[in-house]
Amino acid sequence: MSTTQQPVASPQTPGMEPGVTGQTRGGKKIGDVILDVQNISLSFGGVKALQDISFNVKEHEIRAIIGPNGAGKSSMLNCINGVYSPQQGSISFRGQTFKHMNSHQVAVMGVARTFQNLALFKGMSVLDNIMSGRNLKIKSNLLLQALRIGPAQKEEFMHREAVEKIIDFLEIQAHRKTPVGQLPYGLQKRVDLGRALAMEPQVLLLDEPMAGMNVEEKQDMCRFVLDVNDEFGTTVVLIEHDMGVVMDISDRVVVLDYGKKIGDGTPDEVRNSPDVIKAYLGTGH
Ligand SMILES: Nc1ncnc2c1ncn2[C@@H]1O[C@H](COP(=O)(O)OP(=O)(O)OP(=O)(O)O)[C@@H](O)[C@H]1O
Ligand SMILES: [Mg+2]
Repeated sequence: MSTTQQPVASPQTPGMEPGVTGQTRGGKKIGDVILDVQNISLSFGGVKALQDISFNVKEHEIRAIIGPNGAGKSSMLNCINGVYSPQQGSISFRGQTFKHMNSHQVAVMGVARTFQNLALFKGMSVLDNIMSGRNLKIKSNLLLQALRIGPAQKEEFMHREAVEKIIDFLEIQAHRKTPVGQLPYGLQKRVDLGRALAMEPQVLLLDEPMAGMNVEEKQDMCRFVLDVNDEFGTTVVLIEHDMGVVMDISDRVVVLDYGKKIGDGTPDEVRNSPDVIKAYLGTGH
């Protein structure tokens, strides 16, 4: 579990208006709404984890979700990727509305995620862990795969090539054969990102990708998230507690507190919102 921090000031590049459709931001073009969350409510017994939450995510955006511990951030990602079924509300992906989706269907639509608590195969190598992210893309049947003949052989070569590209991109070549459990935590988080990237997602959901990292590891991870967004055009939904990071790299920010949405706007708007400041200072309760 991470600690919460108070929002801090951070310089914005002049002339940028994040989150406006069609707006160029440092050469980056924000597109139409790709993901639309409408009136989502989710309870666990008496705990109202999410209460009537609505917000959208635009293509090519980095959209942050912030809020104190227990605010409902991970629950929100779990609703988006079909792990939790909200009691109310719906989620649209590219204009198609879904009430209940399972994780597999969401993944096929092009949504991948990383987890707050790593979900890697610790005894398996970096390469094999990232390869596991390609499962959805493997088309040949199991027998052909096991025999490594015909189209299966060609397909395996193609997937290995894609995985090697991700390994190069994330600068973890030196660790490709290392069992993931032997790597420092910061590198394990990078492998988790690699596994998600192997799905070639259109939307990448990141649950605290920088938690538990030192300053240098955080800078590296920020660079990778920005590069994924820039080079592959991937839309990113990012949960992060480090407000410096959020203010620096996100286009728009949603703020949750006790399951309610208390802010939604550009980093500057959110930073200056009295409700948000109150929630972070803990005087609102
Ligand atoms: N599977 C579950 N069963 C019961 N309660 C849950 C479950 N998942 C989440 N909750 C509860 O829902 C609320 C929101 O939790 P959630 O994990 O979404 O918060 P969060 O904003 O991600 O917090 P953190 O910053 O600590 O990760 C909390 O009160 C939590 O205890
Ligand atoms: Mg969480």
